[in-house]
Amino acid sequence: MENRALYPGFFDPITNGHVDIIRRGLKLFEGIVVAVLKNPKKSALFSTKERVAMIRDIFAGEPKVEVKAFDGLLVDFARKSRTRIVIRGLRAISDFEYEMQMAMMNRRLDERVETVFLMPSETYSFLSSHLVREVARLGGSLQGLVPPVVTRALELRLGAGGGR
Ligand code: PNS
Repeated sequence: MENRALYPGFFDPITNGHVDIIRRGLKLFEGIVVAVLKNPKKSALFSTKERVAMIRDIFAGEPKVEVKAFDGLLVDFARKSRTRIVIRGLRAISDFEYEMQMAMMNRRLDERVETVFLMPSETYSFLSSHLVREVARLGGSLQGLVPPVVTRALELRLGAGGGR
């Protein structure tokens, strides 16, 4: 299998923390497949199509980044994508328990899949899509925390000032 890695997530929306992890991953792997979870049951601010389009826009000049939507098990998508490396970001100890459970479950489901943890810049150690949505809804500034395409999408979705 090729030395490409999957970077899965919900990305509702992608933040500069995610972008930072992808850029770090590009230094280690030949390519990154950003795997955007389709989840019709989870109420999302942005549709799968919108989340995928934003990430494609951000990495438009980077041929080593592919963006795909997936549903079902991550290990099945890894097999279909001919990748066996999964990248996850670890911001703080609080992420560890959930991430460990997920990595162990994925290993149990398919022992060929390895999870690799990368730490984002400390600038983004508090950042999450959830907080971005909340701050945007309440009209706070997200300057430097999300890419400009995300700021524009938040403004359009939540009205003027969303995330500026
Ligand atoms: O952005 P998130 O919410 O941290 O991403 C979580 C994600 C998408 C990586 C995880 O929920 C996932 O892989 N879902 C696919 C279903 C699956 O494979 N579940 C078993 C692994 S524990």
